[in-house]
Amino acid sequence: MRQDELPAAAAAPHPLRPRRDAEAVTVFGAGYVGLVTGACLAELGHDVVVMDTDAARVAALARAELPFHEPGLPELIRTHAASGRLRFTESAEAAVAHGRVQFIAVGTPAGEDGSADLRHVLAVARAIGERMTREVLVVDKSTVPVGTAERVREVIGAALARRGRADLPFAVASNPEFLKEGTAVADFMQPDRVVAGADAPPALALLHRLYEPLLREAGAHWMPMSVRAAEFTKYASNVMLAARISLMNDFALLGAELGVDMDEVRAGMGSDLRIGPHMLHAGCGYGGSCLPKDLRALRRSAAEAGLTLPMLEAIEGVNERQKSLLAQWVAEAFDGHLAGRRIALWGLAFKPGTDDLREAPSDTVIQSLVAAGAEVVAHDPLAMPAARQRYAGLPGVRFAADPFGAVAGADALVIVTEWPQFRAVDWHKVRRCMAGDWVFDGRGVCEPVALAALGLHVRAVGRATVYAAAVAPAPQPGAEMAK
Ligand SMILES: NC(=O)c1ccc[n+]([C@@H]2O[C@H](COP(=O)([O-])OP(=O)(O)OC[C@H]3O[C@@H](n4cnc5c(N)ncnc54)[C@H](O)[C@@H]3O)[C@@H](O)[C@H]2O)c1
Repeated sequence: MRQDELPAAAAAPHPLRPRRDAEAVTVFGAGYVGLVTGACLAELGHDVVVMDTDAARVAALARAELPFHEPGLPELIRTHAASGRLRFTESAEAAVAHGRVQFIAVGTPAGEDGSADLRHVLAVARAIGERMTREVLVVDKSTVPVGTAERVREVIGAALARRGRADLPFAVASNPEFLKEGTAVADFMQPDRVVAGADAPPALALLHRLYEPLLREAGAHWMPMSVRAAEFTKYASNVMLAARISLMNDFALLGAELGVDMDEVRAGMGSDLRIGPHMLHAGCGYGGSCLPKDLRALRRSAAEAGLTLPMLEAIEGVNERQKSLLAQWVAEAFDGHLAGRRIALWGLAFKPGTDDLREAPSDTVIQSLVAAGAEVVAHDPLAMPAARQRYAGLPGVRFAADPFGAVAGADALVIVTEWPQFRAVDWHKVRRCMAGDWVFDGRGVCEPVALAALGLHVRAVGRATVYAAAVAPAPQPGAEMAK
């Protein structure tokens, strides 16, 4: 097979959702967003090719091996590799030749100055401009700053002009992605909304057709808007979510001083329809591949526009403080003497349901404890392979195959990720395994009163009290009257 040929489509079309108006779609980037987009568009009936420059990744995908954990995605990829609607390639020629719609879903990491690094996005634009032979719709799905679609248009236009093909028509649209790692397939298939930024009506109509089953069957809101507004909407959404978390973390700090538990406040606030219940958990800080970098990129955009936006700075500052809180509490519990202490750490991934370690708060905790001379014994249900790689060169970090192995002989336990497994753990056994008696809960995983009854000291983000070991819960006022 020539390098620029696609693997042959399997013979029979998949029986699910046959579509007369199926589109030929190319997705550049086989990461979280690109793979989910490709597999889900195949599920919607389209004929999809996913291209990635990482040859090893493409080869693994051809064997249906995924580069990361994402529930439901392996099944979808296997189904549509078999149906012939989903193919993988590392050939830019084959990729550009395939799709009438070409999605750009490559990474946009933070550059040194915090701005979104657009080098991969613009490399794809160049690859398209250098190879396209007929009209295409190019769609930015990567999270990109306002004005990027114009830069993509310029790069494609310049490449066409160099080839003497300035006559070839194309459009550039923005269709930001709002999926969440861990529930990405469900998020894509049942989105709250589809944001479609396009300045030309035919581009908008083509995008609408592409997503039509989601709009008709899953009830997603169709949100057509200008390209620039679509680009901004993605950043504004992520920064709003980060703001809610940081505000709750500030409230938690004050609540601890005033003797107020944040769980109760969250329930009271979240039931207000204007506020809603989501993203209101106080904790040990947000992480992941999106919120931190998108906030930085928006700050950078503001700076480039000559603006200082104090809210944006505050959100980030609060998060940094929050990520260092747990290690600070551990140090306080041991009067600053951590040398030789063994600290168990539950949860490495930035959130449950994923093995993604990007900007995970666990890293701040680990680095700080190890720098203070402690030994960290960590467990995570999914992220251990990635963590073993990351901490290979850091003496003082060990891994345990299960939560009990991590707490064996530990002076303290720190909970950083709210995996359901940790909520359901046998705390009697944990107590028996531990040498010390401190539990620091960064995610509201444990029930402090019950743990205190087992002889543990508990300090938890969002809780007003530091729960002392072996202190029976205070009798409830009025309990006698209720008898
Ligand atoms: N991960 C998320 O939860 C999420 C959610 C919404 C939006 N986003 C945004 O989507 C974009 C992609 O994020 P991701 O997490 O999927 O990234 P990722 O790092 O998981 O994957 C990016 C992929 O792009 C490939 N790539 C790089 N240059 C390429 C090129 N020139 N041609 C083809 N492939 C190329 C890389 O090899 C990699 O496989 C980012 O802008 C991100 O901010 C991510």
